[in-house]
Amino acid sequence: MRTKVVIVGGGPAGMLLSQILHRAEIDHVVLERQTRNYVLGRIRAGILEWSSVEVIRAAGVSTRMDAEGEAHDLVNLAWGGEHVLPIRVKELTGRQMMAYGQTELQQDLYNAADDNGTSLLFSADDVAVNDVTTESPHVTFRHNGADERIDCDYVAGCDGFHGVSRAAIPEAERTEYERTYPFGWLGILSETPPLPHLVYTNHERGFGLCSTRNPMLSRYYVQCPIEDHVDDWSDDRFWSELSARLPGEVADRVVTGPSIEKSIAPLRSFVAEPMRYGNLFLAGDSAHIVPPTGAKGLNLAVSDVHLLSRALIAHYRDGDTAHLDGYSGEALERVWGSVRFSWWMTTLLHRFPDMTDFDQRLQERELSYLASSTAAQASMAEQYVGIPFANPPEEE
Ligand code: APR
Ligand code: PHB
Repeated sequence: MRTKVVIVGGGPAGMLLSQILHRAEIDHVVLERQTRNYVLGRIRAGILEWSSVEVIRAAGVSTRMDAEGEAHDLVNLAWGGEHVLPIRVKELTGRQMMAYGQTELQQDLYNAADDNGTSLLFSADDVAVNDVTTESPHVTFRHNGADERIDCDYVAGCDGFHGVSRAAIPEAERTEYERTYPFGWLGILSETPPLPHLVYTNHERGFGLCSTRNPMLSRYYVQCPIEDHVDDWSDDRFWSELSARLPGEVADRVVTGPSIEKSIAPLRSFVAEPMRYGNLFLAGDSAHIVPPTGAKGLNLAVSDVHLLSRALIAHYRDGDTAHLDGYSGEALERVWGSVRFSWWMTTLLHRFPDMTDFDQRLQERELSYLASSTAAQASMAEQYVGIPFANPPEEE
């Protein structure tokens, strides 16, 4: 079997790339290790930057997002159990965020792939990426008990942090940068109405976040020790801990209820450079991980895919390889922007185990500086809502 592009991984990065390549009539195959239901069962973040909204619209998969997603023009920062500072993103930048769960977007992308008749193989085992520094890369795997091989021009490694693509770049050719954080996030979903706006809170008991999925589904998080287990956290304990970390007027408005999902996630910053090796291109979590503070993970996947799809289209349509050559450098500019921003938000809002009174004073001072400075708020707002692309996608 032969195709132009093999996409390894059918998460949001792989499926959005597939959708854009389909519209450009670029032949491709998607290989996903898990089943469709498994992928759709994963609970992930839910805040889209405005540039991500534009990419999703231009890719022709925005009908449900535009109908059911909620535009958000501000986010709140709270601290010390008393202060609440709205960062008026729309007023400061002219753009806003869209609350739309990654799971919903993933569903829309799979539905589009069904309509497109995309070659999308689930339960593809033992995927291996071969000969990417030659003119004839190929990908081997097992599917339905048979050994398979697909020859291609390019491989798009969209297989997440634990995938095989990044490892196909020899260690001597890649550099990895990493920071782990000494705590986790305990997240719950509850079928209760969310607060009208997101609230990120810094408290001496630890960080907390009130977020949303839809008018009857809320997502909340509290910082917890990384060794904790979900069984340590009854719903009652979760709600009272969240409430203790919020200013009273905010806590009073949180509608509690039974959790329908509860999980603990570690926080990590990770970048692998470069994002290209021969005819292999990495996109999304396969090349980088950010802590969830600021909700940049999915947005970086979308921005990588925007840049990579544009480069592949320029190559196949016009024989122009300049964008392919520039992909890694251009993508990494945005990646490091979001790595820095999510590190900054994480550092500003969490309680670190080794924090001294000095460090705590610095956090408090930075928050009160934000409260007093429109320039500081504008800087946060433009990064939170996402830096516009130099070459935005063209809406049809
Ligand atoms: N072969 C085929 N598929 C694989 C392999 C493999 N060896 N390893 C992993 N995969 C699949 C995973 O099962 C997953 O469905 O690749 C997909 C990668 O999807 P994600 O991990 O979701 O990563 P990505 O598509 O880059 O999405 C960006 O942003 O909000 C964050 O982490 C969040 O998932 C989100 C990410
Ligand atoms: C979420 O809704 O899951 C969410 C929102 C904002 C974040 C992280 C996660 O910064």
